Parts: sequence; C-alpha cells; structure tokens
Amino acid sequence: RAEVVVNGSSSPAVVDRSNESIKHHIQPASAKWRHNQTLSLRIRKHILKFLDAEKDISVLKGTLKPGDIIHYIFDRDSTMNVSQNLYELLPRTSPLKNKHFRTCAIVGNSGVLLNSGCGQEIDTHSFVIRCNLAPVQEYARDVGLKTDLVTMNPSVIQRAFEDLVNATWREKLLQRLHSLNGSILWIPAFMARGGKERVEWVNELILKHRVSVQTAYPSLRLLHAVRGYWLTNKVHIKRPTTGLLMYTLATRFCDQIYLYGFWPFPLDQNQNPVKYHYYDSLKYGYTSQASPHTMPLEFKALKSLHEQGALKLTVGQCD
Ligand code: CTP
Repeated sequence: RAEVVVNGSSSPAVVDRSNESIKHHIQPASAKWRHNQTLSLRIRKHILKFLDAEKDISVLKGTLKPGDIIHYIFDRDSTMNVSQNLYELLPRTSPLKNKHFRTCAIVGNSGVLLNSGCGQEIDTHSFVIRCNLAPVQEYARDVGLKTDLVTMNPSVIQRAFEDLVNATWREKLLQRLHSLNGSILWIPAFMARGGKERVEWVNELILKHRVSVQTAYPSLRLLHAVRGYWLTNKVHIKRPTTGLLMYTLATRFCDQIYLYGFWPFPLDQNQNPVKYHYYDSLKYGYTSQASPHTMPLEFKALKSLHEQGALKLTVGQCD
C-alpha cells in the first residue's frame, strides 16, 4: 500500500509561536541529509491518485470557451464568466507536459532567507519555483534570480502593487512581468471572487504589452485534491498554502525537491527575530487563527518529510 508517514496532528494552530522555533529544530545545511529515492517515488505515486500536476497545473484552452460560467472554489455562490482575454491566455498544452527535472527548488517567502547566502545554491537547481511574484533582484545573494515558475495570488496586486492605482504601479508590475522572461506565471484565478478584477487587469497587461510569459491557471479541482491528499496523511490543513501546493505539484516532475524560505515562525533557531516575508513589512498576526492557512502544521509535515529524506528543508545559511 502506498502510504507516506507524515506525522501531522489535528491540533488547532497555536497562536503564541514564540517558542516554536525550538521545537522545529533542523540541522544546519552542512549536516548530513540523504535523499530517499524510494520514499520520493512512493509519494509521487500516492499523490497521483489524487491529482496529476501535468494536468492540474492549468485549465487548457480546449476545455473552456469565452462566456463559460465558473463557480469560484471558495465562494460557490459567486460566478465569473470566462473573458476573451482569459481564454486567449489559457495554454493549449500543459506547460509541464513531459517535463522532468533532477532537482527543483521551491522558494517560500519567509524572512529566514535574509542573510542566508542561499542565492547561488538556489540558482543551481534545474527548475526553480517562486511564490507570489516575490522580488529577486535586490535580494539575489539570498534568494537567487533563476525563476522557472512563479505564482501570483490576485491579492498580490493589492498588497505589492497598490491595485495599479496609477501609471507608476502599472509600470512596476509590467517590469516585474517582463523580467519573468518566458517563465511560467501561475495565477489561481478561480479561487475567490475577490480576485476577479485583479486577474483581469494582469491578463490585459500581458496581452497589451505582449509580455513573454507562459500563463497557467490551476484547475478547479486542484485545491480540494491537494487537501484530500494531505488529509489522508493526517495533516489537517484548512487551506493549503501556495508553498504546500507547489511542493505537492513538484513531486510529479522533480526527482529531488529542495525547500528554502519555509519558516512560519517569528524567531529563528537561534532565537533571533525573523521577518514574515523577506521583502515586505507584513506581520505574523497575518497567519493567526483568522487566516485560513495553518502554516505551522504544514511545516511540521514538511519537517517530517525532511527527516525521512523525501525533501530537503534549508532554514539557515547555505554552505
Ligand atoms: N512561507 C513560510 N513561512 C513564512 C512565509 C511563507 O513557510 N513566514 C511559505 C508558505 O508555504 C507560503 C509560501 O512560503 O505559502 C509563500 O509565501 P506567501 O507569499 O506569504 O504565501 P501564501 O500562502 O500565498 O500566502 P497568502 O495566502 O497570505 O497570500
């Protein structure tokens, strides 16, 4: 039976996390860690029973037409119509079709990356996944530059680009999109109705300025499938974070998976303060019980997989 040992727990998210960095101790990067290929393959096989990253990474052109009605995943009573722009940007074939990589990096956005010096190591991986259009240029030493896939929750447009209120912000976003240089831009467009206009703005910008990116819009079933997989492994997540979604997808096309910038705690292993994001001033309260995410619980599961050699977590400095 394909079963993965992930020691999740059903306890609710702990609000005071000041002590958690001690509980979650991870060996420094230089310490011995060995990839467990057998386990990685077993996990890939098990996840394939719930979803197929090659298909679920994006809805394809052939399956929708302009005007089709879609019910939002989290707001089932709200609907959207597939616009002409969205239709134009749907890929004809999966951007991951027949793709296979020896090593992949998934870069989370925790401030633990600051002063990590991990940039060079991250850039050596065959495929690099980043989250939420996080900036790289100014942080290259710690986070690297290579980007093969980057996610963009619609809320990023509000948080990092001031909802494109004026030409300056539109230009900033445009520059960031141009800098992607042909990589995959993954936009969860069908999650919540709040993102409707923001997704449309970005789509319009891409088409109008002929931005070179491979757009992808995750399938309607992806989120529930990912949640289902982790629930089966007793990891009771409410709504998987972008980082966990990326790990789950990556198991399909990456032999070895390296995680950086996953650290949802305000103190590091030496009890020094850690920013929530490496690049902005968002605070930890953001992941409190009000948030749909249960990041510390996810972290516990990822740590367990790290200890078993199924993935490698780096939460300190790179060698
Ligand atoms: N992450 C982490 N620790 C942090 C911040 C982020 O482990 N302190 C990981 C999470 O897996 C997260 C990913 O890095 O999903 C990307 O960060 P962010 O952009 O904040 O992710 P989202 O999950 O999309 O968060 P939100 O729903 O708030 O947009």
